[in-house]
Amino acid sequence: MQDFLGYEKEKNNFSRYYEHLPHLPHPPHPPHPPHLPHPPHLPQPPHLPHLPQPPHLPHLPQPPHLPDPDYETIKKAIFTAVAGVFEQLPSLTMTKTAVIIDGKAVAEKIQGQLRSQVEALVQKASRPPGLAVLMVGDNPASAAYVRNKERSCGKVGIASYGRHFPKETTQEELMEAIAELNEDDRVDGILVQLPLPNHLDMVAAINHIHPDKDVDGLHPVNLGRLMRGEPGLCSCTPAGVMALLREYGIDPKGKQATIVGRSILVGKPIALMLLAADATVTMAHSRSPDLGAITRNADILVVAVGRPELITGDMVKPGAVVIDVGINRVTDYEGKSRLTGDVNYDSATHVAGFITPVPGGVGPMTVTLLLQNTVESYIRRLGLG
Ligand SMILES: NC(=O)c1ccc[n+]([C@@H]2O[C@H](COP(=O)([O-])OP(=O)(O)OC[C@H]3O[C@@H](n4cnc5c(N)ncnc54)[C@H](OP(=O)(O)O)[C@@H]3O)[C@@H](O)[C@H]2O)c1
Repeated sequence: MQDFLGYEKEKNNFSRYYEHLPHLPHPPHPPHPPHLPHPPHLPQPPHLPHLPQPPHLPHLPQPPHLPDPDYETIKKAIFTAVAGVFEQLPSLTMTKTAVIIDGKAVAEKIQGQLRSQVEALVQKASRPPGLAVLMVGDNPASAAYVRNKERSCGKVGIASYGRHFPKETTQEELMEAIAELNEDDRVDGILVQLPLPNHLDMVAAINHIHPDKDVDGLHPVNLGRLMRGEPGLCSCTPAGVMALLREYGIDPKGKQATIVGRSILVGKPIALMLLAADATVTMAHSRSPDLGAITRNADILVVAVGRPELITGDMVKPGAVVIDVGINRVTDYEGKSRLTGDVNYDSATHVAGFITPVPGGVGPMTVTLLLQNTVESYIRRLGLG
């Protein structure tokens, strides 16, 4: 084959060139590293003394089995916690929408009207209206309520004939005092402050009050009149709730009204009053399953249970009127005592259309309606109407 690229020729030139290079000597061997001395033997560590066995701890008793919290309790705790978080971030998501029903302001307004009315009536009659509140024992909460009632009487011109009995008072002594007041012409209203000491019969005492002087509206005759839709003295707290609705222009007619609680004092009379005002009434109580499903239907929700913050915002229909009758004293996590209602105000106020606060909602109305009942009884008894 011809060497077209001159490859063979170049290879021969290369071999010839290297044949004439001298052989280089081998590089010297590197010296062996010096032998290092063995490290000295370290002394054995000293034997440590045996430590004593730890004492046997006593067996602790098994913790008691706590009852499983019910569904509503868990739901309430979660909802309260979540509402608390949102409370810290008000600008982000929730806005307070409910109109606050100011019971204190309404009560002051009605008391002002009663004062003017009494001033005018006293000119015609020989005496002012009179109220007798009977208290037995020394329950501090009852004593505070009685003082408040007597102070309010003074403000509107009603004379107080209250009597305070020691806790050992017998049923006969209490009945005798009620009988005397029934006969006393200066007295238009008689109220037995509840609760009575356990040895006394509350129902017998209330039934002994003359129905026309029963300004608490708890005598069977007055409850019967309410049931029949006849005029009579109405239970003060329910009548106070109705006055609040009227004052805020809330007409129960055609509305779905739900009452939680069925006591003679609050739940049942308010149901009858709302029914008389043409609401469609539902009553719930401690045996009602799935309370939230019932309360979420309510356009007007009245809660009178005595369980702090039982009703949370998720149990309220958006835009509903929420009337919280409950008054509960609770101690918060800082150990401070405060009053709270049966409704969790912070969560419900984001959902409801109207809401009563506690305190300052229904409470002031109860006393005011007591004064109003006394004046009504005075007018009727003296024929001043
Ligand atoms: N603001 C005021 O002027 C005023 C006046 C009166 C009363 N209050 C307050 O209103 C609250 C209620 O008073 P009250 O005299 O009506 O009380 P109450 O006689 O003890 O009656 C409580 C009612 O609530 C029901 N209830 C209890 N636990 C319930 C639950 N987990 N779920 C649903 N319903 C439940 C009971 O049902 P059962 O019938 O099935 O047992 C009962 O009907 C109390 O906090 C009281 O202090 C306030």
